[in-house]
Amino acid sequence: MSPHDPLTPYGNKPMVTPIVNAVNYEYASFEVLRKITEGEVDGYTYHRDDNPTVRAVEKIIARMEGAEDCIVCTTGMAACTMVFLTYLNAGDNLIIFHDVYGANYKVSLILERFGVDVTWLNADDSDNIDKYLKPNTKMIFLETPTNPLCKIVDIAAMRAAADKCGAKLIVDNTFATPYHQLPLTLGADMVIHSATKALGGHNDLMAGAIATSKDYYNELWFTRQAIGTTMDAYQASLLERGLKTVDLRCEKMAANAQVMAEFLNDHPKIPRVCYPGLKNDPGHEVAKKQMTRGFGGVLAFDVEDDIEKAKAFINALDVIYHAVSLGSTESLICIPFLTTMVYLPEERRTTFGVKKNTVRLSAGIENPDKLIEDLKQALNKI
Ligand SMILES: Cc1ncc(COP(=O)(O)O)c(C=O)c1O
Repeated sequence: MSPHDPLTPYGNKPMVTPIVNAVNYEYASFEVLRKITEGEVDGYTYHRDDNPTVRAVEKIIARMEGAEDCIVCTTGMAACTMVFLTYLNAGDNLIIFHDVYGANYKVSLILERFGVDVTWLNADDSDNIDKYLKPNTKMIFLETPTNPLCKIVDIAAMRAAADKCGAKLIVDNTFATPYHQLPLTLGADMVIHSATKALGGHNDLMAGAIATSKDYYNELWFTRQAIGTTMDAYQASLLERGLKTVDLRCEKMAANAQVMAEFLNDHPKIPRVCYPGLKNDPGHEVAKKQMTRGFGGVLAFDVEDDIEKAKAFINALDVIYHAVSLGSTESLICIPFLTTMVYLPEERRTTFGVKKNTVRLSAGIENPDKLIEDLKQALNKI
């Protein structure tokens, strides 16, 4: 360690990864430039290519997901789009579940413009996936638990289906989190995160991540370098900070979600609760098989029988915030029909189980008694 190194004088190292805000780096020599360019060493030349603060966070997420490597990018949707752009060509078939995050629908319209054939599948119909496979199916893309109804898709069964036509299996693990589910161990080729959610966890950064093999990392890196979806160093530093507490937060969020789901399940004004941690949930048995240490921090439920009741209930909440997003320190609630699903044409939003009066609740890390009290008092007012 050089005593002249401003970051590590006399060898003491900073406890956090420094935020390297440089766009470019002075080349040490032409030989070093060659080694970096030819991929012999992980070095830095230009921010769109790579950055040490960003690289540090990639290594942490890779470890959490049990992956050889991970590539992070600006948003969760950038991560989804990078996967589509890297692995789909004109004439290929993509099987994608209706119940994925709504903005994927808009991306699918772009993919169709470029000649990709898109098949939409309802997660309730995943047992019949073989019916949907085509000789040109190159990718199966899913979330489990799904957004917003928390349906459970059997990842190992989807792997078996993907193998029948040589397709890649992509799992968006945002709802589950790596604390509760490791899709790579169940056969996924790539795991996507909106790291905006639980990985970051504090409503203060947007980020995407793809955890995968070294070979796929290299191919996705090619796309990121080409299109410039590289994460900012400050964003990476915030994400690294979030990751230090992610296991603790995920444990607490899932415990709070379980308590709230059980309370709502017994409430006369709540006709339906969707949460895989409930014993009567249709996804419970498969969830027990593929999720560990709990069932995630998100649940969905219907309020009475119309959207005005759902709005009145949300307006009456004091502790739980009326806001989109999920996986944060605060509990967040929204009506998907009016928010996360606005990417879809109105008539499409209610075709796979979501109702206008369905609400999505993402548990935070608050005291559970306060959350139950809040739900109780708000339900009493409608
Ligand atoms: C499951 C899931 N995947 C992807 C995304 C997109 O992530 P971002 O908003 O970071 O682009 C979201 C956003 O809510 C999401 O819930």
